[in-house]
Amino acid sequence: MKTPFKSVPLKQFYRLINHGPCVVVTTASGKSKNAAPIAWAMPVNDEPPLAAISVADTHFTAELIKKSGEFAINVANEAILKEMLFCGSVSGRKTDKIKKSGLSVIKGKKIKVPVLKDCAGYLECRVIDSIEYGGVTVFVGKVLYAAAKRGAFDSCWVPEKAKTVHHIGGKFFAFTGSRFQSE
Ligand SMILES: Cc1cc2nc3c(=O)[nH]c(=O)nc-3n(C[C@H](O)[C@H](O)[C@H](O)COP(=O)(O)O)c2cc1C
Repeated sequence: MKTPFKSVPLKQFYRLINHGPCVVVTTASGKSKNAAPIAWAMPVNDEPPLAAISVADTHFTAELIKKSGEFAINVANEAILKEMLFCGSVSGRKTDKIKKSGLSVIKGKKIKVPVLKDCAGYLECRVIDSIEYGGVTVFVGKVLYAAAKRGAFDSCWVPEKAKTVHHIGGKFFAFTGSRFQSE
């Protein structure tokens, strides 16, 4: 019988549930600091506040998180779209991507990792757990501090102001529409 659904290849399953904001994870250890886009990011709990990211073990990002136990989740927006794509195209092992991309950073409040000055908002996280799954590590972080751009968040995002970027698969991205309130 014909259903209203068309099957999606399992290789693309995540695209059905992963159109939340793409984030840029910043990391630092010793003299190194780095930034890389991570689409696979999610909240885990609100009390205590926990967030998780899934990072390939080959990425410099994973190495720096394992060394420092800290990372920041910067919510990508239109203002840093070009820079974010650059940070996703090369490894921080050979290039100082923050410097080369022209991204401006400010000091984190609770962690030694810098955060992106022009992103929509950010979370400062300390690793409380990490789980390895054949080539990727899911880092679960306790959120120690969270901030959003003034005017872009009033208990939730104001999409027209926040202009968050959503990775919907491959080379495709989307901005959100206008927000509405349910009954
Ligand atoms: C839009 C976008 C989303 C990405 N999402 C992820 C992700 O969720 N997890 C991951 O491990 N890599 C992801 N990547 C790939 C890394 O960002 C990319 O390989 C980067 O160069 C790694 O940099 P690093 O070696 O400096 O950490 C993504 C790349 C792009 C462009």
